[in-house]
Amino acid sequence: MEPLTLTEKHVLSHRINAIKPSPTLAVSAKATEMKRAGKPVLSLSVGEPDFPTPQNIIEAAVVAMNNQQTRYTAVEGTLELRTAIANKLKKDNRLSYTPSQITVSSGGKQGIFNLMGALLNPGDEVLIPAPYWVSYPDMAMIFEAKPVIIPGDAEHRLKITPELLEQYMTPKSKLLILNSPSNPTGVAYTEAELKALGQVLLKHPHVYILTDDIYEKILWNGTFCNILNACPELYERTIVLNGVSKAYAMTGWRIGYSAGPEALIKAMTKLQSQSTSNACSISQAASIAALSGDQRFITSMSAVFKERHDYFTHALNQIPGFKALEADGAFYAFVNIQGAMQKRGFKDDLSFSNWMLEEGLVAGVPGSAFGMDGYIRFSFACSMEELTEAVERMTRLLQS
Ligand SMILES: Cc1ncc(COP(=O)(O)O)c(C=O)c1O
Repeated sequence: MEPLTLTEKHVLSHRINAIKPSPTLAVSAKATEMKRAGKPVLSLSVGEPDFPTPQNIIEAAVVAMNNQQTRYTAVEGTLELRTAIANKLKKDNRLSYTPSQITVSSGGKQGIFNLMGALLNPGDEVLIPAPYWVSYPDMAMIFEAKPVIIPGDAEHRLKITPELLEQYMTPKSKLLILNSPSNPTGVAYTEAELKALGQVLLKHPHVYILTDDIYEKILWNGTFCNILNACPELYERTIVLNGVSKAYAMTGWRIGYSAGPEALIKAMTKLQSQSTSNACSISQAASIAALSGDQRFITSMSAVFKERHDYFTHALNQIPGFKALEADGAFYAFVNIQGAMQKRGFKDDLSFSNWMLEEGLVAGVPGSAFGMDGYIRFSFACSMEELTEAVERMTRLLQS
């Protein structure tokens, strides 16, 4: 028998063959490659704040290292960190959790993965409003569950409505994912909208809810509200997911946390105990400083993002064939490019984005990566000079 090579599809598991690598990382990689080849590419594809981690957090990490906090911790995270998280959830979100209802993971991403691993059986349906964060459907597929995409309503800035949610519910629905403010749109749900979605969920007691609150702190329009604030009756089947990556410019530190019903949290911890064990001990110590220390950094970072949003959205809307959505938070502009695609004869947003990168030297992520063809996502986690230059390049390209 011929030896098998790993390039042959059937050698790898059907689970790994069913998923694709993160498309946002793929665009960044192509932009980086072009930069390396000497092309002055402007990369508006990144998903992380362009701010340094605040100094008080760095110092807490140094202290932790000097104190030899360099060993394994409990898989679910240190009691000190879980207590700081419980205090944060009480103070900021009016939600009561004990430390035993909280588990810490290596980034929010791992928390979502653990939740899906702990909850989903083959054939279960995961309700995912589109446009969605790129990882949700593929993670569901790893556990052989079926992503069920609910297209957001263009009349409601691509948010889902109670009618849409009801329409996609089946007896197999197991988990609904809500992400507000959203990646990729930056749009946030209001309390009234969440209350209305909550009314639908109360009629379907077999459905769990993940509220991905990772962009909670980057919000300039309205006050933050999640499904539990709007509908506390869902407490026993909701998992609150958050982390320090976006709020404190700590993407590389890899700390995320989940709060929810104790039995589910314990199951998530069990899964993590057989994969990565605890999140980095030094990052955990630093995260206590982040959550319990001076919060003024967040206010100033959000103000900068708002300023960029206001400039960039307005400028994008002057470009022929572009229609940018008004965001409430996060650091993304989600732009309807159907007019521009039609005018230039592009059939899909992937070929348009490639053209924009190659000819205009501006990198954005095609909307189809987020489940919505005909759009492009630009990140404004970059300087105002870069944004101005990107607008000039795109205007030149589309007016030519
Ligand atoms: C919507 C959303 N959820 C979760 C995450 C995960 O963040 P992290 O793993 O850095 O905590 C991200 C990161 O881009 C995100 O955009």
